[in-house]
Amino acid sequence: MSLTDSPFRLMPASFPTVRLRRLRQNAALRSLVRETEVAVQDLIYPVFVTDGQQIKQDITAMPNQYRWSVDRLPELMADITHLGIPAVLLFGVPDPSLKNETGSAAWDDHGVVQEAVRAIKRVAPGVIVITDVCLCEYTSHGHCGLVEGERVLNDPTLELLARQAVSHVRAGADMVAPSDMMDGRVAAIRRALDQAGFADTPILAYSAKYASSFYGPFREAAGSVPKFGDRRSHQMDPANAREALREIELDVLEGADVIMVKPALPYLDIVAKARSRFDLPLGAYNVSGEYSMVKAAAANGWIDERRVVFEVLTAIKRAGADLIITYHAMDFARWLAQT
Ligand code: PBG
Repeated sequence: MSLTDSPFRLMPASFPTVRLRRLRQNAALRSLVRETEVAVQDLIYPVFVTDGQQIKQDITAMPNQYRWSVDRLPELMADITHLGIPAVLLFGVPDPSLKNETGSAAWDDHGVVQEAVRAIKRVAPGVIVITDVCLCEYTSHGHCGLVEGERVLNDPTLELLARQAVSHVRAGADMVAPSDMMDGRVAAIRRALDQAGFADTPILAYSAKYASSFYGPFREAAGSVPKFGDRRSHQMDPANAREALREIELDVLEGADVIMVKPALPYLDIVAKARSRFDLPLGAYNVSGEYSMVKAAAANGWIDERRVVFEVLTAIKRAGADLIITYHAMDFARWLAQT
C-alpha cells in the first residue's frame, strides 16, 4: 500500500466531515463553546445629577433615564447596589444661572457633581464613582473649553480641566474621565492629581471620541448644546480610523490608565483595532443616541428590546471592550438576574 493510499493520510477537513451545526444543537452545547459573555461587572452606568431638590426628572429622548437631584440619589444607589452594578459615571447638570464663560461651577468644591460624589459615597461606599471631566455642561456658550470668538482654545483650557478633576477627587471620586478632547489634557490632569496628593487615582480617558450625531439625546439631558458652531475642531472626524490609534497612543504616553472609544456600535472597528494594538483596559461608550434608537424601536414593537440589548452589549464586548458604559446597565442586570 503506497503512502498516499493510507487511511491515515491527512486530508483537509470539510463538509460532510465538518458540520459546524453539531455544536449548536442545544442551549447547553452553545453555552459550552460561547466565546463572549457580558457580565454585570463589566458595566458602568451613566447618571445625570442636577441642582435643586426632590428632582427625578424624565429625559424625554431617553426613556427610563432621569436627572437626579443629590437628595434623591440614595434611591437610585439602592438599586445600583442591589443589582451589583460596579460603577457609575456622573454628569453634572448645573442650574443654568451658574453657567458662565469659563464654566467655573465645574471646579466649585460644592458643585453638583462634588456633592453627588459625597452623597453616593455615604450611601454606597463600595460603588466606584467616576466623574466626567469637561466644561460643556458649565459654560454659558456650551463649549468644552474657553472660547475666543468662535474658537475653542486648547492650552488655557487644560488648567481648568485639571482644577475640575482635582475638585472631583477631593470630594471622593475614585476615577476621572476627561471627555473634552483637548490635546494634552491627560498629562495636565495627571500632573495636577499627583501634585494634589492623588497619585493613586486612575484616569479613564475618552481617547478616541468622535464628533458624533449620536450624542443628541445626551445634550438635551445635560443641557450642553453649543450655542454656536459644533465640536468638530476637537472631536474626531468619523471618517478616520488610523488617527484614533494616534489619539489613544498619546493618551497612553500621557498616563491614561484606561482608554475608551466613543460611540460604540458605529465604531466597533476602532474598538477592535484598539484592542489589538494596546494592552490597557479598554472601554467603549454605548452613547445616548444608540440607547434612544433601541428604546424607540422597542416602544413601537419593532424589535425585542431585551434580545437586542443582549446582542448590542455582546457585540461591543466581542469587538474587544473590557468595560462598557451603557444606559442599558440597570435593565441588563435585571434581565440577567431573571435568566
Ligand atoms: C461631554 C460629553 C458628551 C457625552 C459624554 N460626555 C457630549 C458631547 O461631547 O457633546 C455624550 C454621551 C452620550 O451621548 O451618551 N461632556
